[in-house]
Amino acid sequence: MVDTKFKRWLYVLLLIIFRVDGFYVDITYVENAVAKGAVCLDGSPPAYHFDKGFGAGINNWLIHIEGGGWCNNVTTCLARKDTRLGSSTKMVKQVAFSGILHNKATFNPDFYNWNRVKVRYCDGSSFTGDVEAVNPATNLHFRGARVWRAVIDDLLEKGMKSAQNALLSGCSAGGLTSILHCDDFSALLPTGTKVKCLSDAGYFVNAKDLTGTEHIQDIYNDVVTTHGSAKNLPVSCTSRLNPSSCFFPQYVAPNIRTPLFILNAAYDSWQIKNILAPGVADPHGVWHNCKLDVTECSTTQLDTMQGWAF
Ligand SMILES: *[C@@H]1O[C@H](CO)[C@@H](O)[C@H](O)[C@H]1NC(C)=O
Repeated sequence: MVDTKFKRWLYVLLLIIFRVDGFYVDITYVENAVAKGAVCLDGSPPAYHFDKGFGAGINNWLIHIEGGGWCNNVTTCLARKDTRLGSSTKMVKQVAFSGILHNKATFNPDFYNWNRVKVRYCDGSSFTGDVEAVNPATNLHFRGARVWRAVIDDLLEKGMKSAQNALLSGCSAGGLTSILHCDDFSALLPTGTKVKCLSDAGYFVNAKDLTGTEHIQDIYNDVVTTHGSAKNLPVSCTSRLNPSSCFFPQYVAPNIRTPLFILNAAYDSWQIKNILAPGVADPHGVWHNCKLDVTECSTTQLDTMQGWAF
């Protein structure tokens, strides 16, 4: 017989494990997407992790998009092609569901019983790309927008077409996806569905770097060109501005009609490191230590950060 002391100890141990890691959910490959050409950079099928809703949440859907930066040209896309960010063959088969993906009310009071999906990111364009041609020399597929559509269609089939509530969420490059695809997500759901979007750390600003160069604008311009993204960005923006501008939330968000919640740190460390002070703008590494540890920043550097992009 297991004594109560041991049971209590086991319970505490399990509580600690679940609190930290959440629980693990298996991967689902969207095999039928391949025939539609909706594939990862390497041509493999897209993938997601799905945990079914229950009880009062059975007809509510939370779609969370994974992040992971972008690849802006053939060199950088080749570099990610054979990683988990470019191929579903390299993805782990289970991921931990925690935070808003958790299935326990204690940890996730608002969404614990919803259908919860984590969509894996393997196209490098925040799900905006669509180039028909595949160069046989590289075998790179630029098909992010097709992946987006194939994944949403698959989820609609799995029950999302009966959704009462649907929330499109995402973090980082996935947070950008949830902004760029917010209105078309809403349009793919039945008229009666209440749809909202949430972007966590996906509001990347169009601002110059330390040297006054339009570094992030150049990168986004390359992303849009390489992936053929223009036709898949919100028309409410591309009808007014050039396509690469329409990769920036600041030009897109004002015209989004679906309720959109933006969550972003004012001093977003990723943006400080990659938009304000990227390596190319800091050849002597003056910002190196400051980028690793804010207590290492000089007064001038703190002033630069505080004055930047506002
Ligand atoms: C590709 O992009 C990277 C990152 O911006 C850059 O360093 C590199 O020079 C580019 N390569 C080509 C061939 O344009």
